[in-house]
Amino acid sequence: MSFANEVADRYRTTRSESEQLHGRAKSLFPANGATHGARILEPFRPYIVRAQGFRKWDVDGNEYVDYCMGHGALILGHGNQAVVDAIKRQAERGLHYSENHQAEIEWAELITRMMPATERIEFCASGQEANLLACRVARTFTGRRRILRFEENFHGWAGEVAPANSAGVSMPDVTVLPMNDTDLLERELATRQYALVMTEGSGAHMGQIPWDPSFIRDLGEMASAYGTLWMVDEVVTGFRESRGGWQEGVGANPDLTSLGKCVAGGLPAGALAGRADVMEVFDPKRPPEKRIRHTGTWNANPLQCAAGVAACKQYLDGGPQARATELGAYFRDTGNVRLRKRGIGARLYGRTIVHLYLGPLESDSSDPVYPPTTSPDRIMESAQTITNNQLCLRLLERGIATMGGRMFILSSIHTMAALEHTVEALELCLDELMEQRTVLPA
Ligand SMILES: Cc1ncc(COP(=O)(O)O)c(C=O)c1O
Repeated sequence: MSFANEVADRYRTTRSESEQLHGRAKSLFPANGATHGARILEPFRPYIVRAQGFRKWDVDGNEYVDYCMGHGALILGHGNQAVVDAIKRQAERGLHYSENHQAEIEWAELITRMMPATERIEFCASGQEANLLACRVARTFTGRRRILRFEENFHGWAGEVAPANSAGVSMPDVTVLPMNDTDLLERELATRQYALVMTEGSGAHMGQIPWDPSFIRDLGEMASAYGTLWMVDEVVTGFRESRGGWQEGVGANPDLTSLGKCVAGGLPAGALAGRADVMEVFDPKRPPEKRIRHTGTWNANPLQCAAGVAACKQYLDGGPQARATELGAYFRDTGNVRLRKRGIGARLYGRTIVHLYLGPLESDSSDPVYPPTTSPDRIMESAQTITNNQLCLRLLERGIATMGGRMFILSSIHTMAALEHTVEALELCLDELMEQRTVLPA
């Protein structure tokens, strides 16, 4: 029997209830029983029954340190008391009024206080919706049609924000450029046909491929010079990277910002925010051809607003963001000391989301946000190998739940002890994979 099968079999024996549920799920959910692309794993991810703080437990009683954290939404951890209380209070007062209410104003005021570039806001149901709305806003405001995006930047799964070349997607008005190439960017913007240029905050795939800071500076200036609006997708970074998001850290001043995940403290929501003059496209007094009528059953529903207010109040002093950054640095740096010492061809990098790079170490940058290679292809190869499945499974066996064995999403309430346990488990797993030559020495 191969090592991979041996591990899968061992994993199964302590997860018989999960395996049974997976059997039922497979006949309902076509993606091998999973309900999200990131939850597909061979043989299956565990079925979770409870989560609290930085931990979660599966139906078979196995405990995990959670590094998925609501796909990045839970910087405050699972079951944050203020958020839970706010949801309970609101649920008792009504789930949906189909009317205006006070919490939507409070939530928007908190967001504009933290991010100065967000003068006006439209709430919606998800991050992707906010990005799709940005395309319409930019087209209506500029009178242009085309959208400019960057390779590997993730903005959602549908329509013109989907990854390029996705099955079933047609995007005739979208151009996708390689990241960090200023000359190419200028050549495109100079055609003056672009309504909007979109960038993921901190870099592609939650910071896996970071931006070159000088490229971002040039992009802001060029977009403005050629009459193209710039939207920063802060769905992941908004209120995670710092109080004012990624844009605060790099001193960016985008025309539009999309938000999701952390903004609603763990409930589904999105927001498109931006310059007051641009957002005038929602003004009902404008003629129909120059105006967007933004309908959406879940726009600013009381439950998400209550959770959003409770969460955003906690982000105001920057405390959770600073703590998550500190914990991320500890995990990354401690892990890298061990990986170097063991001679493993792998490095950890990033801030509150720590990525694992597996592959040739081409440059060992002193800046911990950067991977040990400048090649986006190498980074993506590293993130999409079969090794990730095996690593993910082995980590789950040792009580560590990651996003695909390559991403560790931290909260502000992980503990040092949990991080140390994780570093040890990671080292053991990589050691095993190195013995089989699945992971190579440095
Ligand atoms: C950077 C980024 N933008 C947009 C989205 C889509 O957000 P949602 O899943 O809320 O639609 C995601 C989801 O992971 C994301 O990572």
